Amino acid sequence: MPLDILAIESSCDETAAAVVRDGRQVLSNVINTQVAEHGKYGGVVPEIASRRHIENIVGVVDEALSAAGHTPDTVGAIAVTAAPGLIGALLVGVNYAKGLSLVSGKPLVPVHHLRGHVAANYLAHPDLAPPYLALVVSGGHSHIVEVLDYTGYRTIGQTRDDAAGEAFDKAARAMGLPYPGGVSIDKITPQGDPHAFELPTPHVSGSEYDFSFSGLKTAVVNLLHNAQQKGGTVPVPDLAASFAYKVVDILVNNTLRAAEDFHYRTIALAGGVSANSTLRKRMEEECAGRGIALYLPPLSLCGDNAAMIGAQAYYQLQAGYTADLSLNGAACMDI
Ligand code: KG4
Ligand code: ZN
Repeated sequence: MPLDILAIESSCDETAAAVVRDGRQVLSNVINTQVAEHGKYGGVVPEIASRRHIENIVGVVDEALSAAGHTPDTVGAIAVTAAPGLIGALLVGVNYAKGLSLVSGKPLVPVHHLRGHVAANYLAHPDLAPPYLALVVSGGHSHIVEVLDYTGYRTIGQTRDDAAGEAFDKAARAMGLPYPGGVSIDKITPQGDPHAFELPTPHVSGSEYDFSFSGLKTAVVNLLHNAQQKGGTVPVPDLAASFAYKVVDILVNNTLRAAEDFHYRTIALAGGVSANSTLRKRMEEECAGRGIALYLPPLSLCGDNAAMIGAQAYYQLQAGYTADLSLNGAACMDI
């Protein structure tokens, strides 16, 4: 008997629901994004995000269930992103999932958002199985993690300040590009010269696998400010391409060093920034040259979605990770 899981995701500005079979097959995947509304403010406004989730969640879940030919009574479990994320946003999904679990009597499976991002790869790559190394790069996190088994993770490196996506968003904003900045920078990168500006490589003392991106963002801000003071302008495509090149260079170097030191021959990328074309291309080239197997999530599953939550939930459920109706959301939680 296949196990179909209804999954709900509302940790940031996407209200999403999906039904996933046996952790690997997407039966339905509905995403209601608020990006246009938050774009007016240059970033996600948490209060608005929570309110939109409240308005949208019933319709989004109904659509995902009916597209998969299910009701809450016919799925095998109800999964939900419980951490990390914007707390008011998370609580909408958590509470709705609790209600569905209560009325249907189906097990409630809490899922870590970043584990979900990693699990997006299971939906596209039937052969991918732990152990492997994952680079998880999103708007709020930048981690290099060992995926020891489907529910056992160990962090090797992480950002000391801004996440990679946050750095893209802040740098893009300074350049006058629209939100989400990572997408804007990626779009104009092909028009620019990635070597036009020599941006500094941030020094991170202590762990050679950790990241630091805030200095890079400051370098961009200073460059733009200095040019403005002198009455000149900066060619934005060149600056965007140089910035993307530098961020990617840091991400790739640390990941490859970790793979070598910890003896991994398989690497998976995950999170919103894994959609970045410079990162995908560079990773493909470097891994091919080293004989490392590289798994990339399809572009449609890089950003926030509930299918990835349903994939991870399957393995969490197998391992016995269920919650009772006292489940709460948490803004921060280690992977
Ligand atoms: O994983 P995600 O959708 O949400 C979080 O969990 O944070 O990641 C969103 C982040 C944003 O910072 C966005 O600018 C970035 O991913 N992003 C990109 C690209 N697409 C999304 N960054 C660089 N290049 C892209 N193509
Ligand atoms: Zn995310």
